Amino acid sequence: MSKEIFAGRTVLVTGASSGIGESFARSLAARGAHLILTARSQNKLEQIADELRQRHRILVHVFPVDLIEPGAPQQLLNNIKASGLAVDILINNAGFGRWAHFLAERLDTYDEMLALNMSALVRLTYLFLPDMLARKKGGVINVASTAAFQPAPYIAVYSATKAFVLSFTEALAGEYREHDIRILALCPGYTDTNFNAIAHVNAPGIRFTTPEAVAEAGLNAFVKNKSYLVHGCPNYLTSLLPRILSRDAVIKIVANMFKGKVAPWPA
Ligand SMILES: NC(=O)c1ccc[n+]([C@@H]2O[C@H](COP(=O)([O-])OP(=O)(O)OC[C@H]3O[C@@H](n4cnc5c(N)ncnc54)[C@H](OP(=O)(O)O)[C@@H]3O)[C@@H](O)[C@H]2O)c1
Repeated sequence: MSKEIFAGRTVLVTGASSGIGESFARSLAARGAHLILTARSQNKLEQIADELRQRHRILVHVFPVDLIEPGAPQQLLNNIKASGLAVDILINNAGFGRWAHFLAERLDTYDEMLALNMSALVRLTYLFLPDMLARKKGGVINVASTAAFQPAPYIAVYSATKAFVLSFTEALAGEYREHDIRILALCPGYTDTNFNAIAHVNAPGIRFTTPEAVAEAGLNAFVKNKSYLVHGCPNYLTSLLPRILSRDAVIKIVANMFKGKVAPWPA
């Protein structure tokens, strides 16, 4: 069933140079999709593209870009169109977070997080959706997080960006379902990728899932036309806590969980 959806379609994957984005690229290639891969690391993207072209009978294009730059999404669209390509499915996966006391992090880091996790995602969706609507097929997968379901002290800005992604994506799913466009928010929990080193995640004893499992689950949920998916049963149950407990109680629980996991501040 999944082959029918992805085979022969062209899928744009952001953040495709590692982790969940790379796994999306590999799973899609195995399902017969053509790929447009983007991230900042051109060499890594070229290596992945070469391997996937050789292993599968697919076209793979690479467009390196820094999505923090405000003009980058438009430039990406221009470059893709100039190459004679059309995007059937957009996967907004690029993103990063940082575990720290709110005031311990540089304000510039938060600006970059907001720009990548939210602005670039909205811009790319705005720019690529019209062609999908004109063709009356296609869709968008936006990668949110289990951090989207409750405010998370010590990753406050990151969890707020992911709450935005979840809310924005589900709203669009409601808006465009009647136009035959699939729109999915994928919410992974702890996943074994570069994210954790970049975010300074310090979570001994935590069980990480694999990026391959997350990407596969995301594609299967897209096939089923779901509007959101929390990956993993324990994560799904945890995502329900804010519906059962008071908001205050949830925030206290998360604050207690994370307080000892970030560097003391002031140092
Ligand atoms: N890992 C987890 O535990 C976890 C849990 C929930 C949600 N997520 C979400 O999953 C998504 C993918 O993260 P991941 O875990 O796969 O981490 P990752 O391995 O660090 O991948 C992040 C990707 O984003 C790209 N990227 C970073 N900054 C960029 C920029 N300025 N412009 C363009 N591309 C940029 C990176 O490539 P370059 O460095 O080459 O640019 C990389 O390909 C993120 O949205 C993250 O928030 C992750």
